[in-house]
Amino acid sequence: MTFDFDHPPARSGTDSQKWQKYAGRDILPMWVADMDFTAPPVIIEALRKRVEHGIFGYARPVKSTTDAVVEVMERRYGWRIEPSWIVWLPGLVVGLNVTAQAFADAGDEVLTLTPVYPPFMTGPRNSGRVAVQVPWLLAPGNGLFGRWEIDWDALDRAVTARTKLFFLCNPHNPLGRVWRREELEQLAEFCLRHSLILCSDEIHGDLILEDNLPHVATSSLRDDIARRTITLMAPSKTYNVPGLGTSLAIIPDPVLRAKFVRATAGIVAEVTTLGFAACEAAYRDGEPWRRALINYLRSNRDEVVAFVGRELKGVHLEAPIEATYLAWLNVSQLALADPAAHFENYGVGLSDGTFFGSPKGKHLRLNFGCPRATLLEALQRMKRAVEAARALAAS
Ligand SMILES: Cc1ncc(COP(=O)(O)O)c(C=O)c1O
Repeated sequence: MTFDFDHPPARSGTDSQKWQKYAGRDILPMWVADMDFTAPPVIIEALRKRVEHGIFGYARPVKSTTDAVVEVMERRYGWRIEPSWIVWLPGLVVGLNVTAQAFADAGDEVLTLTPVYPPFMTGPRNSGRVAVQVPWLLAPGNGLFGRWEIDWDALDRAVTARTKLFFLCNPHNPLGRVWRREELEQLAEFCLRHSLILCSDEIHGDLILEDNLPHVATSSLRDDIARRTITLMAPSKTYNVPGLGTSLAIIPDPVLRAKFVRATAGIVAEVTTLGFAACEAAYRDGEPWRRALINYLRSNRDEVVAFVGRELKGVHLEAPIEATYLAWLNVSQLALADPAAHFENYGVGLSDGTFFGSPKGKHLRLNFGCPRATLLEALQRMKRAVEAARALAAS
């Protein structure tokens, strides 16, 4: 089966958050992590059927929806879950915030490795918890690229009597790093040793671009790890349906689950009828589309890597992009006070690295989940932006 990732409908003038940001300006939006592709036909068909039913009352998942989740976890990651472990959520960011409130008190600390997806830090802070950032280490790697590693000493030193949680991004946004089984085990053991609850955000788990790198679900490692782990998952990133607000927490331990559910009471909205329909179709029937998507994204990734190396002098990728459709670019050599604003002036809207905990002027994140033609145009614009920045620095 073939799918057309090259010619999606235009999103300008629609309800797209990504495109509205630059409405009326000639700036290609390459920032927030949604893709410019239509969702898989199986999802659109499931939604059409659900819409034609015509009644949209308060929803509960039917058995086939829960079964689709249970089956996909086993099929993809060899992780056997029970339906009762699932807590449906309208978003993963909700899950991060709820986790912080459920398992830490005001003033308690939540550890995470930075740079990282901003709600890993803002989530705890929203409710008066303290986000403690331990920087990733860039170690020498093979050939061109370095390798992101954990600074285990710094991590140990960061733990205090008030540390209650570790927020893990598996795979990692924005670094595109896939965790290896041994590393995950070591990290989980670190959490067990310090009696921390481990919250594993696996929203990018089905977006690994290398065939030889499996996604390892943290909770699938061992029973003692599962008992301390809250897993957050969603079909939203993979199947490009984040606007349908359907995510899940998977919590094997009944005590942790009850605490989590209590923290949602009365403030977390229910998942919608359309969200359940999309989720079931994605997990049950979306695999051919996902495989085609991965091939397309891999080619886009290769284009980004080649173009940055060949054409963008003063910009570099520090490590391989193993997963996600996001490229983390080091632009520090361009010596720009506000790199995001500079690139916007040349018609490309990128995410500012400071939101991810990176120092000012150092990083930008590029979303390459778009048709090849859009990506190539954005890269050409970036080339002009880089040349202008270098000319400015030299003058
Ligand atoms: C690691 C990670 N978690 C969560 C989200 C957002 O999840 P949701 O839209 O379900 O709140 C994103 C979106 O980019 C993400 O990268």
